[in-house]
Amino acid sequence: MTEATVNPWEVSGKVDYGKLIKKFGLDKIDQKLLNRIKKHTKELHPMLRREIFFAHRDLNWVLDQYEKGERFFLYTGRASSGKVHLGHLMPWIFTKWLQDKFGAELWFQFPDEEKFLFKKGLTLEDTQKQMYEDMLDIIALGFDSKKTHFIIDTKHADLMYGGACKVAEKITFSMVKSSFGFNETTNIGAIFYTAMQAVPAFLPSIIKKKNIPCLIPHAVDQDPHFRLTRDILPRLGYYKPASIQCSFLPPLSGVNGKMSSSKEYAIYTTDSAKDVERKIKRYAFSGGQKSIEEHRKEGGNPNIDVSFQYLRFLFEPNDKKLAEIEKKYIKGEMLTSELKNITIKKINSFLKHHQRKRRKARRKINKFIYKEK
Ligand code: TRP
Repeated sequence: MTEATVNPWEVSGKVDYGKLIKKFGLDKIDQKLLNRIKKHTKELHPMLRREIFFAHRDLNWVLDQYEKGERFFLYTGRASSGKVHLGHLMPWIFTKWLQDKFGAELWFQFPDEEKFLFKKGLTLEDTQKQMYEDMLDIIALGFDSKKTHFIIDTKHADLMYGGACKVAEKITFSMVKSSFGFNETTNIGAIFYTAMQAVPAFLPSIIKKKNIPCLIPHAVDQDPHFRLTRDILPRLGYYKPASIQCSFLPPLSGVNGKMSSSKEYAIYTTDSAKDVERKIKRYAFSGGQKSIEEHRKEGGNPNIDVSFQYLRFLFEPNDKKLAEIEKKYIKGEMLTSELKNITIKKINSFLKHHQRKRRKARRKINKFIYKEK
């Protein structure tokens, strides 16, 4: 089998997360680290218990500093292109949990130029229009407006450009060529871009005029950016940012790859209850058997069942309930149609709530966008 592709621009094939840990040189989140986190958070988020956040860099160091009284800030981001889907929400939901548990400030980057530079057929105006829609989803997740700062690359260019140049001066074309697969035909905006994504990892340190540890929750495909950032920041006199990294929510079509808005196989945060029902019923890949008789006899396979995986990733936080569903499905006591109905209900009750908060978020956008004091 050919190896899966995982980089900031493409995720395809069957991703082997163990292999990725080795290939990227990540540290696995082990029981010892989980216990250490739990000391501070009292409980563990399901995404930690279930190894959905599975790898990190220097998280122990961030906790060392925290235990000595040096607080860290969180940094994550969203480059707008298509609509927001459930896969995007995963790291953000987890980031919100970290913000609550550690009382951390969050710097949320909106690189409105990124997808314009990297994707054909998108204008800068397109990505900017979508960006304001995306902000609604992020605000709807309940981030604390007093502790959360949105930074928009083109709007906050005055704040960011100097830092980006300092990073860029340390990066040669040959360094980014291999990490990002660039060649002679790549536009120079794309080549420069990683310098912009590095900036929020030290921007708060510039603004507050003292070094502050940074923890970046992100999906593992972003790691190539932050490998570079980590190499460079100490040379500029800043801390290396730490990270905590998650795997991908599967698309409806099956457990390989990641949910992506370029395909039909995504559930969007703005989908209606009817859309969700139709998509799950029609498209969600099933680990069940071909006929009811066979299913009762052989049982289903939750590992490849997308509806089950959605419960595991996002929609059934209760471990006991999840294990019960799993057991019944494996034994053939629960049919695919029954499992799908559970998932549809869960997603729709989440979305109903989310969409209500999303509507109210429009008038809060201004509170979140960073303003210099
Ligand atoms: N490159 C990310 C994307 O394609 C956006 C992003 C910017 C980001 N800064 C980040 C993601 C920090 C995670 C963490 O959506």
